[in-house]
Amino acid sequence: EEAAKIVLVEDSTKPGAEKVKIGQLEAHRGSRVRVFGWVHRLRVQSQMTFITLRDGTGYLQLVLSGDLVKTLDAFDLVTECTIEVTGDLKQVPEGKTAPGGHELVADWWRMIGKAPTGVDAYASLFNEKSDLSVRQNLRHLDLRAETPAAIMKVRAAVLSAFRAVYSKHTVMEVTPPCIVQTSVEGGASLFKFNYYGQEAYLTQSSQLYLETCLPSLGDVFCVQESFRAENSHTRRHLAEYTHLEAELAFIDFKDLMDHIETMHLGQICEVVDMVLADPIAGKLVQELNPGFKAPARPFKRLDYKDAIAFLNEHDILFQDDDPAVPARPHQIGDDIAEAAERKMTDMLNVPIFLMNFPKHLKSFYMKKIEGDEEFTESVDVLMPNVGEIVGESMRSEVSIQPARKLTCTVSTGGSMRISDIDELMEGYKREGIPADPYYWFTDQRKYGTSEHGGYGLGVERFLAWLTNRWTVRECQLYGRWPGHAAP
Ligand code: 4AD
Repeated sequence: EEAAKIVLVEDSTKPGAEKVKIGQLEAHRGSRVRVFGWVHRLRVQSQMTFITLRDGTGYLQLVLSGDLVKTLDAFDLVTECTIEVTGDLKQVPEGKTAPGGHELVADWWRMIGKAPTGVDAYASLFNEKSDLSVRQNLRHLDLRAETPAAIMKVRAAVLSAFRAVYSKHTVMEVTPPCIVQTSVEGGASLFKFNYYGQEAYLTQSSQLYLETCLPSLGDVFCVQESFRAENSHTRRHLAEYTHLEAELAFIDFKDLMDHIETMHLGQICEVVDMVLADPIAGKLVQELNPGFKAPARPFKRLDYKDAIAFLNEHDILFQDDDPAVPARPHQIGDDIAEAAERKMTDMLNVPIFLMNFPKHLKSFYMKKIEGDEEFTESVDVLMPNVGEIVGESMRSEVSIQPARKLTCTVSTGGSMRISDIDELMEGYKREGIPADPYYWFTDQRKYGTSEHGGYGLGVERFLAWLTNRWTVRECQLYGRWPGHAAP
């Protein structure tokens, strides 16, 4: 009754309140400001309401009291409502904490958009501990929680850092197409579709297109979505992922390795350094992955054949796809499975360049090793666990959750490419690939060939490693994996 009569009117005698994003508030301490946002958290006491407001740039504590908590709208305040509020921005008293170190003592507010209560209330849909599948189906709302938002902020910082570092090293960005009519990594994982009556695919890798840019643009890179139709329900496989790829001309395998180490991984280190130095993203990485440090160089270089020997020395067995076939020691030529790779990487506990894979395990474009023609000048980068979570001391002012467990991941795959046209024609033949659709790729070997090589980095795998996530699925804005394409 009483509440119904109270209508808040903005006090025109007060100084005009400047509209400010929460992330920019520090410079406005001590003055009257106006903010807009979503009610992130709410604590109602008899005479006072405490709100944590969120606008994407940060979190802000609000204090509402007096008539401000007695309006009709005040009774409808629940999490996820949108509001506009004005008030004095004050530093929090000594001994108290609040996001940003200040709080807004409100003198006026209004409801912009209400949110559901009861069973539909945001807070009752899920929480940070809910099953992943519940959260995945509510991804559009889950993104409003602190941990998913923090990962997306680190993701943005990582992509900016990569671009800055490539630019510094004069590697130019290009944007290849997603719709293609050739495969890069084999037909088994191609998404096919009808393209004006012709067969077309979603790209698996932009590598071949990057190769065609070398003669006109020099060294190039792209950040492009890649698609894999493989039905792999693992922690590191996605159906669509963000693929960061680069291609470099007039290099040999040693140059590529050096580049990956001193520039690419050096770059990754540069990227990591840049992200860690960022005032927002750096803090978020430490909250998501407490104690994280950039890996020490040099990285271990491990020949595929030595890896097979290592697995056998440590009784890590080869398991056939058919579980009825008994496990056996590894043989040269075997594909090293994810579990075996994980065990090996965990045991060695350093970043590894796993190199020189057998030809038959790799794609048609890979250059053979001279004098050891069954093997290729190829490399996978394996990133190990980065250590134990260092406890609960590094908790943020909001509630970012460290992951439950750490994981090793293959962040990057690269190789030298075939430079000789006859070797390329043989490669098509060996893999049963018709050469005709690749005429534009073959022409690169006809019109002034060059030794060249490159690599692709899975952005989500890199992020899962950096932010210590259980699965790459947490590292996409809207995840795409077998059976899941909504929201
Ligand atoms: O090893 P891949 O298949 O190599 C290529 O596609 C090369 N053509 C890249 C190149 O040389 N330009 O994939 C490269 C990287 C992997 O190391 C991994 O990080 C990521 O892409 N990746 C995936 N990430 C998530 N889900 C999947 N299904 C992935 N498949 C590969």
